[in-house]
Amino acid sequence: MMPSTRAPGRRSNRKSNRGVLSRCRICGCQTLEKFLSLGPSPLANNFLTAEQLRRPEPYFPLDVCFCTTCWLVQLADVVPPEAMFTEYLYLTGASQPMRLHFAGLAADLVERFSPPRGGLIVDIGSNDGTFLEQAQAHGLRGLGVEPAANVGAVAQGRGVETFTAFFNMEVAERIVREKGPARAVVATNVFAHVHDLDGFTAAVVRLLAEDGVFVIEVPYVVDMLDRLEFDTIYHEHLSYFGVRPLSLLFERFGLQVTHVSRLKVHGGSIRVYAQRPRAPAPSRAVSELVAKETAQGFGTLDTYERFAQRVKALRDELVGLLRQLKAQGARIVGYGAPAKGNTLLNFCKIGTEILDYVIDTTPFKHGRYTPGVHLPVLPETRFQADRPDYALLLAWNYAEEILKKEGVYRAQGGKFIMPIPHPAVI
Ligand code: TMP
Ligand code: ZN
Repeated sequence: MMPSTRAPGRRSNRKSNRGVLSRCRICGCQTLEKFLSLGPSPLANNFLTAEQLRRPEPYFPLDVCFCTTCWLVQLADVVPPEAMFTEYLYLTGASQPMRLHFAGLAADLVERFSPPRGGLIVDIGSNDGTFLEQAQAHGLRGLGVEPAANVGAVAQGRGVETFTAFFNMEVAERIVREKGPARAVVATNVFAHVHDLDGFTAAVVRLLAEDGVFVIEVPYVVDMLDRLEFDTIYHEHLSYFGVRPLSLLFERFGLQVTHVSRLKVHGGSIRVYAQRPRAPAPSRAVSELVAKETAQGFGTLDTYERFAQRVKALRDELVGLLRQLKAQGARIVGYGAPAKGNTLLNFCKIGTEILDYVIDTTPFKHGRYTPGVHLPVLPETRFQADRPDYALLLAWNYAEEILKKEGVYRAQGGKFIMPIPHPAVI
């Protein structure tokens, strides 16, 4: 898909030459119904340098569809992955809660599956090696596969061997040849990035040992709707999974979902375990979640259309609140520069007239500007020195930790604004 572009300060009406999906990426049916358009949007992790600010910025449509056959929620437009994942500015290890989370995942794997010492664990989309470092601490042999060389280099520096590649059948075969089959293949926050789910799943099956386990973590579509987390929609996230569509996909490749657990991370995710069918019978959690998805209307278009209405109402409410505070002379900044913050800022058109800047703990992002609305990204020390009146919590998924960390700011009268599920000052 070709992007349309927007010159600095000017909107381009140039029509884009885009590749639009007409068939569902899981079931292949032509039963996609569009229910939400977040408008032409820049790429959520495309933080710009000062130099890039002077050049036109690529914009892509951000339209969300529901497949009435298999229930997969998905984006209609596919941005070439090379445009998003070759240099990556997100570092898993930049967020303390994620470091703890991945220590928990490593412990969970060891407890449930008792892989032998030296057993091979392949992490696809291994980012800076945060998870594999933990797996290696349990005596397992880690191998990362990561397309972004800049974050892969951080992992290598931590002692995590990393192949720079997009995972596919060729990579799976190379790993089997050089390292043997994997006891576990792990893909956290990466399955939703994959356009060719069939090719990816087939390659996982090739890589897995007979008794191996495939573990994925994906944001859960049920949590996204329940908590109005519309900002987790951006071009990297092609699919928004429920248990039912995932089970249908895996079954076609001879894998059975044996367990699912719900997680707090990223506003609510699921950890899904899939194994060859001779593994123990699936836990009750699997059928219970599918039953819940059915009972709560996740198989009907109407549910998604209502979500879209609520998203628009939320935008109006949030913008109203910010404008009101601004009119009272308040100084407001953004707290965190997560990718999802860029969906929120662009969809709500919140820019430099409302926020002075955003702060973030990721060194790669410092000195850059947020895509679309071009807010400068500064280190968190600036926030502590500056003490603005309000901080719009763009990294709302870490609310608990951040409110605790910024106790002094709050004690001195500083306030946080939670954007979702209802704008609230705390
Ligand atoms: P994520 O929600 O996709 O993990 O991204 C969170 C972003 O927020 C990431 O860029 C790191 C940043 N962050 C902070 O700036 N301060 C914090 O205290 C935490 C936990 C994250
Ligand atoms: Zn489908």
